[in-house]
Amino acid sequence: MPSRHGIDISKAQALHQLELRRFAESRPRSRELSRSAERHLLFGVPLHWMEDWSTPFSLYLQAASGAEVRDADGHVYHDFCLGDTGAMFGHAPDPWRQALAREAADGVSAMLPTADAVWVAEELSRRFGLSHWQFALSASDANRFAIRWARAMTGRDKVLVFNGCYHGTVDDVFVDLVDGAPRRRDSLLGQVYDLTRHTRVVEFNDLPSLEAALADGEVACVLAEPAMTNIGMVLPQAGFWAGAQDIIRRHGSLLLLDETHTISSGPGGYSQAYGLRPDMLVLGKPLAGGLPAAAYGFSAELAARAQQAKRAAPPGHSGIGTTLTANRLTLAMIRVMLEQVMTDAAYQHMFLMSQQLADGLQTLIQRYRLPWCVTRIGARCEFQFCARPPQNGSQAGASQDAELEGYIHLYLLNRGALITPFHNMLLTCPATRAEQVEALLAALDGWLEQVACR
Ligand SMILES: Cc1ncc(COP(=O)(O)O)c(C=O)c1O
Repeated sequence: MPSRHGIDISKAQALHQLELRRFAESRPRSRELSRSAERHLLFGVPLHWMEDWSTPFSLYLQAASGAEVRDADGHVYHDFCLGDTGAMFGHAPDPWRQALAREAADGVSAMLPTADAVWVAEELSRRFGLSHWQFALSASDANRFAIRWARAMTGRDKVLVFNGCYHGTVDDVFVDLVDGAPRRRDSLLGQVYDLTRHTRVVEFNDLPSLEAALADGEVACVLAEPAMTNIGMVLPQAGFWAGAQDIIRRHGSLLLLDETHTISSGPGGYSQAYGLRPDMLVLGKPLAGGLPAAAYGFSAELAARAQQAKRAAPPGHSGIGTTLTANRLTLAMIRVMLEQVMTDAAYQHMFLMSQQLADGLQTLIQRYRLPWCVTRIGARCEFQFCARPPQNGSQAGASQDAELEGYIHLYLLNRGALITPFHNMLLTCPATRAEQVEALLAALDGWLEQVACR
């Protein structure tokens, strides 16, 4: 029997053919829109990643509310994708929706600060323990700007990342470890510089390699997610961050934590939940409820160094910031999110739902004797095709199976459950209901019943 990861691949392939037909037959409006889109949209979609779903043509969104999404044909889905974190706190929660209508009426962008900016920075400082803040329109931009500040503050030109990372479209970090050597990620389009000159890369959870890579004192900052989430999840081993922070400080580098995804860990992110002390920290995606917004924070010491670096530079373009950044509306919406939506109570419920999901997945893995594992960080949960949780990016990458993922995702989608199109990530939000979790688990059970080898 051709088995992969405990799944009979022939059966899974045959079932997938039926699922492709089932999808197509019941979504005439999405099909029609997809056909029309090909005329004027590159790849027939407004952003080419939108092709990455497992569907034979695009699923068109009509509306989204709470933990549900409705497509253009009227089908309603339990949403565990949540816009790949953009809607981590639910689609259009009531306080956000009301504030948007109210605030939009008072204008968007005037290149002037507002009282909300003062309130937001104070609240971010309280939550994340960093004293000063700046804003950006996306987490990609926030990471880009934070790296620029780190270089300006330290006078060093190199950055270090962990193998298999993703921090948005930041060119500097599109470098992988291939046979022990850094190599520009093959998929990166249109980049002509030798990225390996200024970027070092080591495996996550590997303290000796980190020490060796920082030893010459040339690295401005280590940019990292506190737990990797983008190559499948990789959790830090016990003592990893204590050791890593010590090494980073000893070599005069800065720790830049990207909490764009690990904000799922709690109101102060992973760093507050687990006592990490970053020099800089990045937030994005759900910060303004899915409107374009990001923030990055500096420790008090670094805030002084950053201001000094800018004052010491000649006047003119700094390469940091964009015209619409930190606009009035965005800051107002971030305030609403922090004040009324991203609350302790919301997190408690999200964790409860995610635990229910993780427990249910574990039960299925045992029932079908699958060599899979489940990893959870707060409201973010993932099943991976390896018997034990991966310890670094290489191991996590090796456990991925795009074909199998596509089969699972489409089967679930046809039964009313959406999960992220990239690996097997499942998010829960304050509006997620226990019966939605049970529906997703039942659908996965149905798939496994037909294709698991046992
Ligand atoms: C950890 C992390 N940082 C940054 C980003 C970039 O976010 P955006 O695409 O909103 O710029 C992502 C996107 O997935 C991410 O996962």
